[in-house]
Amino acid sequence: MSSQTPIVEIRSENYRFLQQHVYSHAGIVLEEDKHYLFESRLAPIVKQLGLNSINDLCTLLMATRETQVSRQVVEAMTTNETYFFRDPAQYDAIRTVLLPRLRRERQNTRTLRFWSAAASTGQEAYSLAMVLLEEGFSGWNIQILGTDLSSPVLERAQSGKYQQIEVNRGLPAALLVKHFRRSGMDWHLSDTVRRMVRFETIDLRASMRALGPFDLVFCRNVMIYFDAETKRKIMKELYGTLSRGGWLLLGGAETAFGVEEWFERQTIGNAVVYVVQ
Ligand SMILES: C[S@@+](CC[C@H](N)C(=O)[O-])C[C@H]1O[C@@H](n2cnc3c(N)ncnc32)[C@H](O)[C@@H]1O
Repeated sequence: MSSQTPIVEIRSENYRFLQQHVYSHAGIVLEEDKHYLFESRLAPIVKQLGLNSINDLCTLLMATRETQVSRQVVEAMTTNETYFFRDPAQYDAIRTVLLPRLRRERQNTRTLRFWSAAASTGQEAYSLAMVLLEEGFSGWNIQILGTDLSSPVLERAQSGKYQQIEVNRGLPAALLVKHFRRSGMDWHLSDTVRRMVRFETIDLRASMRALGPFDLVFCRNVMIYFDAETKRKIMKELYGTLSRGGWLLLGGAETAFGVEEWFERQTIGNAVVYVVQ
């Protein structure tokens, strides 16, 4: 007998229920053509619960509003793709423009605060931490916050353990040797880098102003999943968390969507940065 869950077509009322469920719990819009995505991402949950199909999973969710399963379903529908030094031009801009300015302006407090919103498994936050160490900020009070809706990815981020395939993506060999230690099949990030980052579960649609002020916010490759109204609300909140002169960095495929109202768009080398005036 096959251990695979047989593929049973998702009934249209259940498809709508799942779309609504993911939208209301994460703001993620999943269009009509995502049957395959639901099937592949939810099959492990169906199997784990000993159910026969996604339709049964929907029945369970509708009947019980089971919070643990409800959360699992939402988390399974998030896309967590990330890698070290994604969009390297942005890290170059941080290194060559933002950090020299902050070094001058913050000589008194020697405190800098950064936020990786939608941090996934942590590569974005840790890339920044390594840049700060390379640029000689080790004696400063550096606070990097990494947040995400999904707890399982944050647990991985917190562990600082990465597989070979993950360190092969974007991480320069010199930084791998310097900041990681090999342990069995994995690579463990040094405590020095790990201690620079704190991870927390936060839904980007919540009020975020109290988290600030930050000198830089990464909010990359997550807005693409939201509708216009959600994006606008989040942009306004992000604006409220940044210091004057602070930077917002978006993903490569993410364009302004009203950002100009709050930020000035600047091009630095091949990077686009949004600056609070
Ligand atoms: C594609 S990853 C981006 C990771 C990283 N920022 C990068 O660009 O490499 C998108 C992340 O957004 C998170 N996410 C989705 N909806 C969210 C929400 N409403 N609030 C917070 N995080 C969310 C997902 O869990 C996922 O880890």
